[in-house]
Amino acid sequence: MSEQRSVMVTGASKGIGLATAERFARRDDVGQVVVVARDSPAFDQAVARLEAVASPSVKVWPHRVDLADRAATLALVDDVYAMHGNVDVLVNNAGYTRPEPIHQIDFAEFERTMAVNLYAPFTVVQGLLHAGNRFEVVVNVASTAGMNGRSGWLTYSASKAAVINMSEVMREELAIYGTRVACVSPGRCATDLRRALAPDEDPATIMQPGDVAAAIEMLASDVGRFVDSANLVVRQ
Ligand SMILES: NC(=O)c1ccc[n+]([C@@H]2O[C@H](COP(=O)([O-])OP(=O)(O)OC[C@H]3O[C@@H](n4cnc5c(N)ncnc54)[C@H](OP(=O)(O)O)[C@@H]3O)[C@@H](O)[C@H]2O)c1
Repeated sequence: MSEQRSVMVTGASKGIGLATAERFARRDDVGQVVVVARDSPAFDQAVARLEAVASPSVKVWPHRVDLADRAATLALVDDVYAMHGNVDVLVNNAGYTRPEPIHQIDFAEFERTMAVNLYAPFTVVQGLLHAGNRFEVVVNVASTAGMNGRSGWLTYSASKAAVINMSEVMREELAIYGTRVACVSPGRCATDLRRALAPDEDPATIMQPGDVAAAIEMLASDVGRFVDSANLVVRQ
């Protein structure tokens, strides 16, 4: 592990991912923050914000990729390792949902949900391992919806339940490399994704993205080694 850590955060154009990337970008013990989202004006603005707040030691590297596209995700992994070297801290945060009752679920939407929420984090981890990457910490962002199924959220709940379980397996298999694998399950948090799930809720009354980001940063810190991070629930 290098002295200044390299951090990679997916889904960093807004919400929890942007707040997480910002916390790492402000640190003096970080050298690079690799951020991933689809190409959009929002992502451009996020990158500009990260560059504005970053500590002098930190370089911000944006990668514009659709994580539902497996070939593009594999290419991303190759590019990241070739361009930036070892990823010490990986935060698999990108997430997608389109809540629909069972009778109306379009199978292509189910596949998209699984691709972004489950297959992409798997592909990034496996691809980097194949490239020779040695992770210090991997944080997978699941959800309390993955612990208890919710009516109308079948595809999302199923994908997040799988993320919780996948994290347990990664945690066991990667321990021999000295890698810690943590799973974070946020409860309701004021983001665009939450608005899709609960359009009538007042975002000012619920947890904010920075609160979850602080928990993720803690897991990647020294004290994180002593926290039971098999599935850390962060909620009000
Ligand atoms: N908010 C909550 O209440 C809550 C609760 C539990 C868990 N979570 C989880 O927290 C994580 C962050 O979500 P959030 O609440 O912060 O939502 P958000 O503000 O909507 O952000 C979602 C992020 O994921 C990225 N993303 C989505 N689809 C993508 C794709 N196909 N390719 C690349 N990036 C993609 C988005 O980027 P672009 O759209 O710009 O590409 C965005 O940066 C997710 O895993 C979510 O499931 C959220």
